[in-house]
Amino acid sequence: MVRDIADTVELNNGVRMPRLGLGVYKVKDGGEVIQAVHAALEAGYRSIDTAAFYENEKGVGEAIRTSGLRREDVFVTTKVWNDRQGYESTLAAFEESRKKLGFDYVDLYLIHWPIKGKFKETWRALEKLYREGYVRAIGVSNFKIHHLEELFEDSEVTPAVNQIELHPRLTQEDVRAYCKEKGIQVEAWSPLMRGRLMDEPTLVDLAKKYGKTPAQIIIRWDLQHGLITIPKSVRKERIIENADVFDFELSDEDMKKIDALNQNLRTGRDPDEIS
Ligand SMILES: NC(=O)c1ccc[n+]([C@@H]2O[C@H](COP(=O)([O-])OP(=O)(O)OC[C@H]3O[C@@H](n4cnc5c(N)ncnc54)[C@H](OP(=O)(O)O)[C@@H]3O)[C@@H](O)[C@H]2O)c1
Repeated sequence: MVRDIADTVELNNGVRMPRLGLGVYKVKDGGEVIQAVHAALEAGYRSIDTAAFYENEKGVGEAIRTSGLRREDVFVTTKVWNDRQGYESTLAAFEESRKKLGFDYVDLYLIHWPIKGKFKETWRALEKLYREGYVRAIGVSNFKIHHLEELFEDSEVTPAVNQIELHPRLTQEDVRAYCKEKGIQVEAWSPLMRGRLMDEPTLVDLAKKYGKTPAQIIIRWDLQHGLITIPKSVRKERIIENADVFDFELSDEDMKKIDALNQNLRTGRDPDEIS
């Protein structure tokens, strides 16, 4: 039972990661990201998901430093972007991200997308960063089963996390089952399908039934499925709303109703079409 915003999952290397985090894709560096991260930390969030590609690592670092919390109280994820993949270039990209954040270490470093012919070399760089203590955990994003199988051919460290697009229209049951078997924690990106599910009738009905909003129903569904979830908002009231999901429990029957909304529908790119 997930009962508290401070609840964490234990990753396959023993590191604990909060189940709920704030996503900051498309949030502007500077004032906008600083106020969003401050609002989240005030609301009790302890995990922030950024990426080099989002160009707001500097603001994320500044917000955490000025929040009054200790560095070790906040779990920070960032990612290596596609055009920096490869061994040496990933090491250099990591150093740039670390400097922008202004931290000695990053909690979780991810390969943003599985770039064909490159991601294995990128992974070797992540393994080095992990062994040397610059990152507490390493993982991947947007990896399908065949990408993970290819990675396993030469890897020494199993990814701790696979961050994938996942919401009621794209439930990814095959990837979830595979990751579970391999001890990889699944993390849902665009959990709210970028805000497009707020009028979905089943979710609206469930929201009425539980006295919650459709966004809260989805986030609770993530948590009850054992997923890490990182809804994005820049609005304080929504940041608070999205974290107010620890005082109710969806029934098994209602969980299944949400599972049944799946249409294998992506809002983002198909990982096989990325180059
Ligand atoms: N690894 C990857 O390739 C990848 C790709 C995409 C995203 N991500 C990560 O996942 C995070 C979340 O995904 P996302 O940003 O694409 O989409 P999302 O979290 O599914 O949805 C965000 C959208 O929903 C709105 N929203 C937030 N809370 C709401 C609420 N309670 N009621 C109604 N609308 C609400 C937001 O608007 P306002 O901001 O105006 O409130 C925003 O437009 C990203 O920020 C990023 O950290 C990773």
